[in-house]
Amino acid sequence: MSWTIESSKLNQSDLLTNESLFFLGNGYLGVRGNFEEGYSEGDKSIRGTYINAFHDKVDIEYGEKLHGFPDTQEKLLNIMDAQSVQVWLDDERFSLFEGEVLDFQRKLRMDQGYSERIVHWRSPKGKEVNITFKRLVSFVNREVFVQEITVDPVKGVERIAIHSELEGDVSNFVDPDDPRVASGHAKRLAAGAVYETDGCHVAGAETHETKMSVCCSSKTFSDKENHDYESNIEGAKAQETYTFSGEEKITFTKRNVYMDSMRYGQNLEKKAVQLQGELADDRFEDFLEEQARYLNDFWKTSDILIDGDDDLQQGIRFNMYHLLQSVGKDPKSNIAAKGLSGEGYEGHYFWDTEIYMFPFFLMTNPEIAKNLLLHRHSLLDSARQRAKDIGHTRGALFPWRTITGGESSAFFPAGTAQYHINGDIAYSYIQYYMVSGDEDFFRNEMAEVLFETSRLWLEVGHFHNGQFRIDSVTGPDEYTCIVNNNYYTNVMAKNNLLWAGKIYDHLKKEDPERLTELMNDLEAEEEEIEMWKEAAEKMFLPYNEELKINEQDDTFLQKGKWDLDTTPKDKYPLLLNYHPLLLYRYQVCKQADTVLAHFLLEDFTDQDTIEHSYNYYEAVTTHDSSLSFCVFSIMASKLGQKEKAYDYFSKTSRLDIDNLHGNTKDGLHMANMGGTWMGIVYGFAGLRVKESNVHFSPYLPEQWGSLEFNIRYRNCLINLKLTEGKVVYTLVEGDAVRIFHMDSEISLDPGVPVEKRTSL
Ligand code: BGC
Repeated sequence: MSWTIESSKLNQSDLLTNESLFFLGNGYLGVRGNFEEGYSEGDKSIRGTYINAFHDKVDIEYGEKLHGFPDTQEKLLNIMDAQSVQVWLDDERFSLFEGEVLDFQRKLRMDQGYSERIVHWRSPKGKEVNITFKRLVSFVNREVFVQEITVDPVKGVERIAIHSELEGDVSNFVDPDDPRVASGHAKRLAAGAVYETDGCHVAGAETHETKMSVCCSSKTFSDKENHDYESNIEGAKAQETYTFSGEEKITFTKRNVYMDSMRYGQNLEKKAVQLQGELADDRFEDFLEEQARYLNDFWKTSDILIDGDDDLQQGIRFNMYHLLQSVGKDPKSNIAAKGLSGEGYEGHYFWDTEIYMFPFFLMTNPEIAKNLLLHRHSLLDSARQRAKDIGHTRGALFPWRTITGGESSAFFPAGTAQYHINGDIAYSYIQYYMVSGDEDFFRNEMAEVLFETSRLWLEVGHFHNGQFRIDSVTGPDEYTCIVNNNYYTNVMAKNNLLWAGKIYDHLKKEDPERLTELMNDLEAEEEEIEMWKEAAEKMFLPYNEELKINEQDDTFLQKGKWDLDTTPKDKYPLLLNYHPLLLYRYQVCKQADTVLAHFLLEDFTDQDTIEHSYNYYEAVTTHDSSLSFCVFSIMASKLGQKEKAYDYFSKTSRLDIDNLHGNTKDGLHMANMGGTWMGIVYGFAGLRVKESNVHFSPYLPEQWGSLEFNIRYRNCLINLKLTEGKVVYTLVEGDAVRIFHMDSEISLDPGVPVEKRTSL
């Protein structure tokens, strides 16, 4: 069961949620789990197919537009719909909402990488049939979305007709009542006329502003030669009907190939038809076989085994599977807040990538992690431009939300003001370097990004009374905006500046030629580097003597506390029910802020402060953002608050499966999915990556019989198996490696298990 997600619910709200849960993708292409034949008349559906980063630009309309506000916003576009297939039994059309559903199972198979619906149906006139719909988005041929429909007549069927469509004229979904889903600008794709060539239907389209093009070639075939065939094209829509005798089982296949101009350049349609030719002999089973092989490799390294709780086991696998389905694996793409599962947050990339999702890839699939960093690096010029747009004289300011580098946030207090994104990106670069030891990356992309982000900190902050202070920024907590000296921002900036100084010193000694080249390219002076080091050293990190906590910012603790206990349940999330200004005036947090800083950079403060801060901020946090539970779980583990750690963890692992935030229909909460993995590996197993080494201080939650997973570190694969009171470390790949277990160093040799005691 834990390899499969199942559902047989057919009510409107579950259908919408299931469209996200059953979405299939490969990081390039994503197809929502819509029904081929649609729902009943009038039921809402967010019918969607997306290509990572395929977008248009839309104007942002402001009531009052001030200097430096972005003019336009990027928006992921829904592209041509190839999903539609209808099944007719004589004159009756199959629908799960009519006749009698004698049996219905829907499954997502995470070990094999496909989904299916298995239906036993009796029509209103009493005819009976078994129908199976299978679909797969290939990890091996990223352009391919393939469907297989099997119709097996049981009773009274004279003729079976399969009616397939390719619809080029599509729009995005809008919900004007929810700021988290786009409003307006639904139609941004100009669809060309569909045509037929080489046995395929081909639909092409171009975006209004960015002039990007996309195409889909769709090829249908069946296993029975004896059938009638009709095809009809009207404008941007192609329809085909296959009619068979109702005597025997038929299998119908629809292979759809998608390509976009960002990756495939010109003559897309020709290329898509050509690929169809190359794949001509491939049936659904062939794609399935390759898919299972790909996933077998993935799970071999990345799986986490929990003995003792099937629901959580299912939840964690589901989350890792969707991370893999959503992460961009080419230089043009990253991983969006909703992955490729829906239109929420318009396909934008946020700090979610670096702080919440990157760690999973870093420790299991480092080549994917590196691609995420290289993608950010490719946006450096836009970030330099953005810094200038704001009025800075040098450095780079990464946008709060973006696809190709432009700032897409229209609400600067909880957008552009989150300067911490620069520190977050720097942090992920540093983590990658510590885990991989990739010197080439250190000298090149990492040096460039850390130098440019450091320059910006000097522009944003200032020296005052012997301290370096950063004013007018917003930390991760979006219920407290535009503040001075947000602890999280300051400590992340400090880390950023320290490492930039370190890179400088290292290059000066080891590779002066590269340093000269870099300094020339960036037109940087040696004095600047001295300033970075001084700013790092003098960085003001607010601390409250009385409470013995790090203050979230200069004024947070002076405000009254929002009364969370008397706030009615239906007023959460607060952002949908109260004006932001009201929230800003209270001590109330949408998500982990200082507590997150203590997780990421524990060495900048002491254990007591971490504990007091945790207890203090926990009481004022609503967790209205799905980025919060996992951080509280990790830190509760660190502090030995095991029950809490487990409780928070349980909320992350099934947040989407159980629709705990009520908006899974708009797409999955990808950062939380990464957070589940962190809750186990950083939380229960206590992993921390330090400059010298990896450290573990593991324990097994008492609810479980055992826990087992792997991590990659410096070309090694290390397996950890936890049982009650003990952990066994085994080096599965690699020559030899040294790690820390609870502050003592141990060496691992290939294949020799090392057993250690853990806290109970
Ligand atoms: C959170 C942000 C996050 C964004 C996208 C917001 O609700 O407050 O921290 O980056 O969602 O996931």
